Amino acid sequence: MQTFIKNIPKAELHVHLEGTLEPELSFALAKKNGVALAYDTPEALVAAYDFHDLPSFLSIYYAGMSVLVDEDDFYQLTYAYLSKARSQEIVYAELFFDPQAHTTRGVDFQTVITGIHKAQLAAEKNLGIKSQLILCFLRDMSAESAMQHLVLAEPYLDWLVGVGLDSDERNHPPIKFAEVFAKAKTMGLKLTMHCDVNQLNTQTHIEQCLNTIEVDRIDHGINSLESDELCQLIKEKKLGLTVCPVSNRFVVQSLTSDEIHSMLEKEMLVTINSDDPAYFRAYLNENFLELQKEGQFSQAQITTMVENAFKVAWLDDETKNGYLQQLENYTSKFPLAG
Ligand code: ADE
Ligand code: ZN
Repeated sequence: MQTFIKNIPKAELHVHLEGTLEPELSFALAKKNGVALAYDTPEALVAAYDFHDLPSFLSIYYAGMSVLVDEDDFYQLTYAYLSKARSQEIVYAELFFDPQAHTTRGVDFQTVITGIHKAQLAAEKNLGIKSQLILCFLRDMSAESAMQHLVLAEPYLDWLVGVGLDSDERNHPPIKFAEVFAKAKTMGLKLTMHCDVNQLNTQTHIEQCLNTIEVDRIDHGINSLESDELCQLIKEKKLGLTVCPVSNRFVVQSLTSDEIHSMLEKEMLVTINSDDPAYFRAYLNENFLELQKEGQFSQAQITTMVENAFKVAWLDDETKNGYLQQLENYTSKFPLAG
């Protein structure tokens, strides 16, 4: 099973680039940029990671970004993730980034997106991993700020596949950003939003995503299981759900394997992802491996979740079918995987 999981060709659809900042790179960039860190060593920094809910994670996550200053920093961050991903047999990734977390520190939008984009091109050429970029708005900032950043992104539309919504969900419902997402849609961008696990008013937030924003995907979305109506709607719309087991464990003390089993039983398009792997100390393979251990998932179920990710990826049919064929070639060597 371990070999099967490690080597299966995968897609990752929910990973925040800023959440892939490893402590060692953070220390190297801090030195280069003359930024002071609160800890003396990478080990001490990791030891201070103490998350028990979304806000406690976010405060450490935003503080960590202070070392990202110039274009090359964003290049290094992105290239390091894509190298790690490729070593885990990820062949395709959709990457979130949080421009507002940088522009508010005085780093230009252009600096951020150019560094990321150049690394994506280099990784595709050198490592053979394809990736696309999703601009995330911070929901605890204003809708006006989100709109300003969407306008900043207009010259770079060819470098983006979609927009997302992340950060602190409490009292920041999807509907707050209805106008921004409607404009993004007219610009040809795909739409997704976080509906993190066990958030206040989560049912209303999921319902707004489906009926008002009309998203193309939902990030997390575990709590949809509490409503037959929401599950039915998600199935009818054939929406993918990007579930992040290790990330969930910080909030609900489980990898949500029971919930993931329920989604599979209902034939919802559940996918497995790492979210913020440098902070949660688990990349995609570790998410699959730990989940499999907790929930005793079969090879066939793992295959279904990997297949779902390629199916709901924001790719043209030809590219998607190429990946699905690659997956089929792999699983056909495992009698229990079909
Ligand atoms: N930003 C980075 N990771 C996040 C998560 N899991 N939820 C909301 N915002 C985030
Ligand atoms: Zn996330």
